[in-house]
Amino acid sequence: MARSRKLKIGVLGAGPISQAAHFEACRKAKNAELYAICDVAEDLLERVVAIHAPREAYGDYEAMLADPGVEAVIVAVADQFHVPMALEALEAGKHVLVEKPMGVTVEECESLRDAAGASGLVVQVGTEKRFDEGIAFARDFIREEMGEMLALKAWYCDSTRRYTMTDALQPVIEASESARTPEGDPKADLRRYYVLGHASHLLDTARFLGGEIESLRTRLVEKFGAYCWFSDVEFADGSVGHLDLTLKVRMDWHEGFQVYGEHGSVIGKTYNPWYYRSSDVECFWEKDGRYHRPLGADGHFFRRQVEGFAESILDGVPMRGANAEDGLAAMRGMVAMAHSAQTGEVVRLSEVRGGV
Ligand SMILES: NC(=O)c1ccc[n+]([C@@H]2O[C@H](COP(=O)([O-])OP(=O)(O)OC[C@H]3O[C@@H](n4cnc5c(N)ncnc54)[C@H](O)[C@@H]3O)[C@@H](O)[C@H]2O)c1
Repeated sequence: MARSRKLKIGVLGAGPISQAAHFEACRKAKNAELYAICDVAEDLLERVVAIHAPREAYGDYEAMLADPGVEAVIVAVADQFHVPMALEALEAGKHVLVEKPMGVTVEECESLRDAAGASGLVVQVGTEKRFDEGIAFARDFIREEMGEMLALKAWYCDSTRRYTMTDALQPVIEASESARTPEGDPKADLRRYYVLGHASHLLDTARFLGGEIESLRTRLVEKFGAYCWFSDVEFADGSVGHLDLTLKVRMDWHEGFQVYGEHGSVIGKTYNPWYYRSSDVECFWEKDGRYHRPLGADGHFFRRQVEGFAESILDGVPMRGANAEDGLAAMRGMVAMAHSAQTGEVVRLSEVRGGV
């Protein structure tokens, strides 16, 4: 289909994720434009504007929202600011792509879900792994060919060598003393910091592939500066699951999944996103006795995420990314993990309140 125009996006926040992903993603997207950048840190704004040359630059978010040229906003600020900034954007009539995690409490995520529903605007959550062609192929196979699910395992293990890797791959990241940060030190409670940062991805991938999670029971072990959350999961369809979130694993980045079903099984290995390499996925199909393996040549998940977002807005294509319900469900999962790790009890996701 010939595209008549590009979605004009304003990016809120010029921090590391915008510099490493969103600015370039908007510039490379076939159906979007990096129209504006907003950051309170003047020196940082000046430097990123010199590199990415948006049409407009703003130090004040309200001023960016008042610009009629801005059709959609990427909210790429600290987790604690996601919901208030996304709500302001909706009030100003802008579509929203909000970074993960969607928020920091169940209640505020509910308020954003409700506002999204009432607004008629697109609200997408930035769990970009849904735009990994390998993971999308696995999901299609699970839905269309695999039949009933028996079990799902998923793991997300961040490596001690992670920054060695990402420093080599990412652009030089500019920083500023004037950057706006939430009160207190987000890293003061490392468990919380890791769950919000990483379990948001793990839970979203598990739900994307395996469907709704009913309840879970989590054990947390901390040793030699490493953290391991093992969760026993019950899916809504009665399948069992096991989720492994491990931080500072003494090996390479280790992420992937296995799914066992009635007519086939799936196994996937996911790479650190900064390799821009799609997951290696193999789907065994009982019907033809063969493994099926996609070539996910386009591994720029962040660009694909922006393109999917713009397609939903411009062309009315059903949202392929995580919607507000998905963001809320991941938040419930994170809170359930944290509560269960403390109490040792099985926690039903529908019953959790509060934060991690
Ligand atoms: N999807 C992923 O894989 C992924 C990876 C890394 C980070 N993230 C998420 O991205 C988000 C941002 O991360 P980061 O490390 O870039 O954050 P950061 O806090 O380092 O940078 C955010 C920038 O936003 C600016 N800012 C904050 N509030 C503002 C306001 N009201 N008006 C104008 N500017 C404002 C700050 O000055 C700062 O420069 C986090 O929620 C993080 O979890 C996602």
